[in-house]
Amino acid sequence: MTELTLIGMGAGDPGHLTLAAVQAIRAADLILIPEKDGKEDLADLRRVLLADILPDDGVQVRAFAMPDRDRLPADYPGTVQDWHDRIAGVWHTAMAGAARVALLVWGDPGLYDSTLRIARRLPGLTVRVIPGITAIQALTAAFAIPLNTLGGAVAITTGRRLRDHGWPAGADSVVVMLDGQDSFRHLDGPAHVWWGVNVGRPEQVLIAGPLPDTADRLTAAKAAVRAQVGWAMDIYLLRRTLTDD
Ligand SMILES: C[S@@+](CC[C@H](N)C(=O)[O-])C[C@H]1O[C@@H](n2cnc3c(N)ncnc32)[C@H](O)[C@@H]1O
Repeated sequence: MTELTLIGMGAGDPGHLTLAAVQAIRAADLILIPEKDGKEDLADLRRVLLADILPDDGVQVRAFAMPDRDRLPADYPGTVQDWHDRIAGVWHTAMAGAARVALLVWGDPGLYDSTLRIARRLPGLTVRVIPGITAIQALTAAFAIPLNTLGGAVAITTGRRLRDHGWPAGADSVVVMLDGQDSFRHLDGPAHVWWGVNVGRPEQVLIAGPLPDTADRLTAAKAAVRAQVGWAMDIYLLRRTLTDD
């Protein structure tokens, strides 16, 4: 029987690792690290985190090549299902013979991440989750603001949904993730934005202000961070007004 522990590693700051995460890393026999062309920095970050907390021997670290997928497929659900099947196959091979396997998952495994869906494809695995600090928590902490207004509802959505469907009904605070298209430019009506790129990393940039006036600064800051370190992930909180009460 193999136990697979999905360990939330936080959103890029080594200080996000919880005590439970450190204990789970040290208790593993094998730690799998995804490697993807063009994302070497992120694999390196996992190695740096591990180097600080692993004992000198006893835990094996094994890299696996993350399968690629078509970014603009005609059949999106079918393509993603097939991609997840292929990742599950690669995991299956990579974890052969190990009893306690761990995977470091960016942020928290339960938030906009498919690791749990992929793990379900492998029969006979016991899956355990160690929660991690999400990019949402990293963002609101960086600005020292609450996520929600007083008693208000929060929606968490993607850049694509914001663009296609507009402001989520009933929410006075909206968190936008996975936005490769600067979807804050497509909002109807004014809003206030708290925006961060590579939050928690040394190169992080935080910008707050009214939209649409701030939009060009956000686009430029994201491009500058990407040019500096080779990758850029942004996240933002929107409210119609500046107030949180
Ligand atoms: C695939 S999702 C993973 C989310 C992750 N599981 C979590 O709990 O935060 C990737 C998205 O998370 C956000 N994100 C993750 N880390 C971030 C960071 N350090 N700074 C800004 N945004 C981040 C971005 O919106 C990015 O597009």
